[in-house]
Amino acid sequence: MFETLERFPVDPILGLISAYAADHNPRKIDLGVGVYKDEQGRTPILAAVKAAERIRLEVEDTKTYYPQAGNPVFNREVQRLLFGDDSKACAEQRVHTVQTPGGSGAVKVGAMLLGLARPGAKILVSDPTWINHKALLANSDLDIGSYPYYDSASNRVRFDDMKAAIAALPPRSYVLLQGCCHNPSGADLTLAQWRELAALLRQHEVVPFVDIAYHGLAIGVDEDVAYLRLLAVELPELVVAYSCSKNFGLYRERVGAVSVVGATRDIADNALSQILGVARRLYSVPPAHGQTIVGTILSTPQLRASWLAELTEMRERLNGMRREVAAAINARQQQRDFGFIAGQYGMFSFLGLSVEQIRRLRNEFSIYMVETSRINVAGLNPGNIDYFADAVAAVL
Ligand SMILES: Cc1ncc(COP(=O)(O)O)c(C=O)c1O
Repeated sequence: MFETLERFPVDPILGLISAYAADHNPRKIDLGVGVYKDEQGRTPILAAVKAAERIRLEVEDTKTYYPQAGNPVFNREVQRLLFGDDSKACAEQRVHTVQTPGGSGAVKVGAMLLGLARPGAKILVSDPTWINHKALLANSDLDIGSYPYYDSASNRVRFDDMKAAIAALPPRSYVLLQGCCHNPSGADLTLAQWRELAALLRQHEVVPFVDIAYHGLAIGVDEDVAYLRLLAVELPELVVAYSCSKNFGLYRERVGAVSVVGATRDIADNALSQILGVARRLYSVPPAHGQTIVGTILSTPQLRASWLAELTEMRERLNGMRREVAAAINARQQQRDFGFIAGQYGMFSFLGLSVEQIRRLRNEFSIYMVETSRINVAGLNPGNIDYFADAVAAVL
């Protein structure tokens, strides 16, 4: 039977991980995998997470199933974090949030909801986008296309082209938008551009599906969802996928949530029942550990303050590294201006190098990145930034 199966292609990032592990050069640098690293190159467990885990061990007295929507405290707190305490849509009970296994689970469940609401509808994703987006949207009865997003010549968002692609969609289509810290480009829309986009979506009856995987890692916890709150005011309906992998450092615990905003309370209730139906068919009920941790952190003032401080430290380190790496490469060569890296957000930026140059970085300097030239800025630190900048200048 199984002779019919072909080998599933290895994810290029996983290939990079094993090549990096096998490299004995003590100066090797991993800029591939999308996890946060501190100045020592570690991905530590946050103190707020450790504290919430201790509480959980103490107080948990059963392992019976959660309600099907998951941990109610987590769902409520994530909804408040996203939409704010004064959200009109939340007050009108037009918003439902359901925990999912990671942000990937949220994208999958959200995609299936979109397909159920409008079978065969068009959905556009940014070009380029996160490597797993199209795979997660597949088999959800959606017609997947893309909109121009990043211009590698100017290192800016192709906003006019993006708007033109959305304006050309048939009414009642979908568009997948990344909230902040765009993966893989690091180039985000400004709030003024989001405002323009909201008007366009409204005019063309296009429903946004917003994927937020790096909340709090761009400018701040409120600033990084300002556009979402705007969309929830300007538009009657939207879907949000949320991940707590990066901002809570809970990668392997699989913590995420999907939220739906409906035009009326009834519509939102029906959408919720469909989300629960999808989840039931995919994995029945979501895992509990990470969601309980996040729920406890967000609902305990002391732990919340501790988490916010740790998140601020991560964000400031990323933004500081961005400024430093741009300056360090610029100081070593005159051919190109790398200043754009300092104006982008999150973990990723494209260096704009050729495949040949990337291979030289790997073979001659043990510097690992995917062949699109996307780097994870968190892989840089005061101990390796000069070596990295020297190497980039050498291959340019
Ligand atoms: C844009 C984007 N969306 C969603 C995710 C999903 O994250 P996870 O499933 O690990 O929570 C990621 C992770 O890299 C991402 O970059």
